Amino acid sequence: MKRPAVRTSAVFLTVAFLLSACTQTNPVGTNPTTAPSAAPGSSSAIPIGIALAQTSNVALLGQEGIAGAKIAEKYFNDKGGIDGTPIKLIVQDTGGEEAGAINAFQTLISQNKVVGIVGPTLSQQAFSADPIAERTKVPVIGASNTAKGIPEIGDYVARVSAPVSIVAPLSLKAALKLNPNIKKVAVFYAQNDAFSKSETEIFQQTVKDQKLDLVTVQKFQTSDTDFQSQTTNAINLKPDLVIISGLAADGGNLVRQLRELGYKGTIVGGNGFNTSNIFNVCKVLCDGVLVAQAYSPEYSSEVNTAFRTAYLNQYKKEPPQFSAQAFTAVQVYAEALKALNQKTKISTMPLPQLRTELNKQLLAGTYQTPLGEIGFTPVGDVKQKEFYVAQLKVDADGNNGKFALVK
Ligand code: ALA
Repeated sequence: MKRPAVRTSAVFLTVAFLLSACTQTNPVGTNPTTAPSAAPGSSSAIPIGIALAQTSNVALLGQEGIAGAKIAEKYFNDKGGIDGTPIKLIVQDTGGEEAGAINAFQTLISQNKVVGIVGPTLSQQAFSADPIAERTKVPVIGASNTAKGIPEIGDYVARVSAPVSIVAPLSLKAALKLNPNIKKVAVFYAQNDAFSKSETEIFQQTVKDQKLDLVTVQKFQTSDTDFQSQTTNAINLKPDLVIISGLAADGGNLVRQLRELGYKGTIVGGNGFNTSNIFNVCKVLCDGVLVAQAYSPEYSSEVNTAFRTAYLNQYKKEPPQFSAQAFTAVQVYAEALKALNQKTKISTMPLPQLRTELNKQLLAGTYQTPLGEIGFTPVGDVKQKEFYVAQLKVDADGNNGKFALVK
């Protein structure tokens, strides 16, 4: 690691001290190019990078991921870590843009010497940041990236967040089941966001496959707050169903403005709606929105019960999908590290070799997770069996609510 030249000014001394403190707590073994020690009882921990949004509007999604990852860190360390050596999450904030994700990846790879990365929050960021991990041969597990083409970025890129092609059609089919009279459909999507563009393609194809009438496609930006012209255009065409592909802040505001302008029909929100933070955005006007889910808190298994209980105790609400997916990504690293350590002591491996072996190992495994049993396709996409559709039910106070499963 490059250190600043030592100067006599207090500022530089402070920086030097902090950097040296970071190095000491940096859980990599004494030699920064070798793997962390995995000797039983060793105090050094195995660093796993978390590159998620803690700031910006995207933090509505990213902070839920961090919450889930931290529960996993404690859960697997309480179970003995990697044959006695704990894992340690190193969190780098990506913010909501591509540049922040690139910086976070670079810091985690070069400075923090992580064995692998969970993140980034958005597919839009993944298409910029994941190629850096691919070039440096560091495994990445996407825990919320659902756009088409993420695992195809490279051999070191996998995800536990099921793609739009599998998840999106479910909510539209649930809407038709609840209201078989739906004929006219208006579609909205954020045109500056890779995931939203990918998801709307699936929604629009499903509308055609279901022989519905796609009356309009309206575009917006994830930074927009005023949707008056798009909502007016759509409402004038009298749709029975509106489908929105955007993120929580813009999507929630769009729902609010549709309802304020008098739209009374069904609304389907895409994967960007999958956070209880959306209740703060559209309040009581979110009520009834349908959202497909890759996670159910009600899924019955030992690990999900432990995860759900830990989340409920800490946050006093049911765990959301992004927390469950981030838990799962950390679980994949923990269990793959353990499997690898049983074959070859990971403390003996140079870091580049450990990253490569870990990547191969994690892709080969099967995991009993809060999402159910998962594995990976050869390209690194998640193989998952259980999916759900939820309907937003807003509490009387309008600030909170729940994702009630549509049975
Ligand atoms: N599912 C969203 C994405 O992929 C968060 O960007």
